[in-house]
Amino acid sequence: MRLSLKKFNTFGIEAFARNILFLKELKQLETIPHLKDCLFIGGGSNILLTKDIEKTVIINQTRGICTVSEDDDTIELAVASGENWHELVLYCIHKGYGGIENMSLIPGSVGAAPMQNIGAYGCEIKDVLTYVKAIHLDTLEMVQFSNKECEFGYRESIFKTSAKHQYFITDIGIKLTKKNHSTHTRYGDIEDWLTARHIQKPTIEDISNAVISIRESKLPNPAILGNSGSFFKNPIISTTQFESLMTKFPTLKSYKIDDQKVKIPAGWLIESLGWKGKRIGNTGSHKNQALVLVNYGNASGNEVYQLSEDIKKSVWETYGIILETEVNII
Ligand code: EPU
Repeated sequence: MRLSLKKFNTFGIEAFARNILFLKELKQLETIPHLKDCLFIGGGSNILLTKDIEKTVIINQTRGICTVSEDDDTIELAVASGENWHELVLYCIHKGYGGIENMSLIPGSVGAAPMQNIGAYGCEIKDVLTYVKAIHLDTLEMVQFSNKECEFGYRESIFKTSAKHQYFITDIGIKLTKKNHSTHTRYGDIEDWLTARHIQKPTIEDISNAVISIRESKLPNPAILGNSGSFFKNPIISTTQFESLMTKFPTLKSYKIDDQKVKIPAGWLIESLGWKGKRIGNTGSHKNQALVLVNYGNASGNEVYQLSEDIKKSVWETYGIILETEVNII
């Protein structure tokens, strides 16, 4: 029997699976003979399906948030990987736990969050993460990775490099503050939002509201217009290449990383080449954020993939910069 995966990917792409397992308890994994051959889907918010899936698809629906330890100032929570990330953020804000409010409204599951070290508005999950627990797909052994062992970088972790396709993340630990929260409001848009409302000492709830409002104004809601957030990563180039590009393109935007490296907003590059808001068939680059590719209704995964390749090609030809996809192409 063929089962549709349309509901299980935020791009809303139609692709079929032969066999789907809805994972509610980890012991269900023991019934699957070759876990390594399965496709694991969390929130489905970072994948582009370009074909039907012959492997077993495992949809992670594990749940649970519990306290590992706490004192007067901090609390450490253990969270099951199948929990929804934004619901976790809202839960923490409701309880008064600070540390993840800048990452409000990021679609996807808790288990996917450390994979690509999700981040927004000056914060990344690596700032609060204490550990990742994962099952080795061959041995079924449960392994615990410390924050350091996760080898986090910008949208990077060991789960995308040397440990790729080796583990299934079962739960994570995060350490949050119960008082004296260190809020991060430096990111331009947040500051402007707070100033416009005369908020001088923002609470974690104010920051979450600011982020939600900014994201809603810039990023399309996947429930209305299928998408997977940023399709590409912001490229990091050498200072030498940056200086040479500036002589030709003086308005090029950049963020200095260190003396050798500069990060370039991919959205700027894509917009400068006329892709922003452009619709090609059933897909296109979003009108408010060029970095986000969208599905206008019946796009096939290959149509979106072709557009992404065309965008990459034009960025390469004009700027000599290779855009890397952030989304996993399957
Ligand atoms: N820009 C443009 N045109 C665009 C979009 C952006 O010129 O269409 C330029 C603007 O100059 C802007 C700069 O890019 O000042 C940065 O834009 P923005 O603040 O929207 O952030 P971003 O770098 O495009 C990143 C993340 C987002 C995250 C925001 C806010 C990546 C790949 N993306 O986008 O993450 O929400 O910062 O922190 O790092 C996601 O990963 O799915 C995601 C949405």
